Amino acid sequence: MIVLGIESSCDETAAAVVSDGRWLRSSVVASQVPIHRRYGGVVPEVASRQHVLAITPTVGQALAEAGLGWEQIDLLAATYGPGLAGSLLVGLNLAKALAFARGLPFVDVNHLEAHIYANWLVPQGSEPAPAEPDFPLLCLVVSGGHSDLILMRGHGDYRRLGRTRDDAAGEAFDKVARLLGLGYPGGPAVQEAAEGGNPRAFSFPRAWLRHNLDFSFSGLKTAVLRTVEELAGASGARGTRQRREQSHTTPAQVLRVAPQANLPTADLAASFQQAVVDVLVEKSLWAAERYHARQIALAGGVAANALLRREMAARSPLPVLIPPLAFCTDNAAVVASCGYFRRQRGAAASLDLDVRPSLEIA
Ligand code: KG4
Ligand code: ZN
Repeated sequence: MIVLGIESSCDETAAAVVSDGRWLRSSVVASQVPIHRRYGGVVPEVASRQHVLAITPTVGQALAEAGLGWEQIDLLAATYGPGLAGSLLVGLNLAKALAFARGLPFVDVNHLEAHIYANWLVPQGSEPAPAEPDFPLLCLVVSGGHSDLILMRGHGDYRRLGRTRDDAAGEAFDKVARLLGLGYPGGPAVQEAAEGGNPRAFSFPRAWLRHNLDFSFSGLKTAVLRTVEELAGASGARGTRQRREQSHTTPAQVLRVAPQANLPTADLAASFQQAVVDVLVEKSLWAAERYHARQIALAGGVAANALLRREMAARSPLPVLIPPLAFCTDNAAVVASCGYFRRQRGAAASLDLDVRPSLEIA
């Protein structure tokens, strides 16, 4: 079965063709990063309009790169949540229009579930093909909007064991990147800045939240903010002392100071990154042991983080599945894969399906 996947939940317009849920035929991602960079983050209205411009050529390119015509496509799969409403609408409505016009079945895909299917995808030219993941599978789904620990007991059988209580891991990377003046998107910028930095230079807090599997990253973010504030003040950045006397210093104020101050950016980035990774790894290992998982799978944009990939593999007694970078950040190949497995279970979406910006996984 050949599936065309469509993804437009945030700031990447993407289309991909996948055979039988695993075999990548093509994957095209039209990134909006250069457009949003000047604003320091995703501007929803701009993202939505950009999706409208990019989506049709992106789908056309995915078909062309797969060397296929419409008559060879068996199924359409599109993300319907979670994400930005105006962005989701573009991909979902195109999928519905194509399903109607081409007489094709289509299935609705949850973006978070799709991220997990990065672990089923096989890039072109991979020989021999890796085995399929084993259940029960402990999935760490870490993206810009979510930090979930999910026990996957079979296709479509999810139990959420933990979630973030405040900022998502990716959100923390993005906010810390902003206050260190590292730009957008924050995750790759912090990772790069951390190279050569000492991860023990600053002892930032780890919110272990004993006896449960939830995450919390806002305290860590605030600790970095306070440290930057202190350092910027100590280095004599103009106006900072005066601000420190005020009871509330906002991130926006620090943001204006940090890039000018002579900060130990590499040490700050490395110490922050280490704090996030320590908690993500420890909680995943604990969850895997407690729920008798056979393997641990990484998923979502933060799974592209080199330290997380390295430390999870090094510290886990279980096999760790680590998808190629291109399948971690937003793409449509994972949507096509997830759509295939949903179809195998009989899923079919109707043409009056609406977007679900706040959709959860379980
Ligand atoms: O899954 P994703 O591409 O989009 C959402 O569904 O949100 O995840 C985006 C998030 C952003 O917060 C980005 O900063 C983070 O993933 N990210 C990273 C890295 N690459 C992307 N975080 C840490 N290290 C990276 N290398
Ligand atoms: Zn995502």
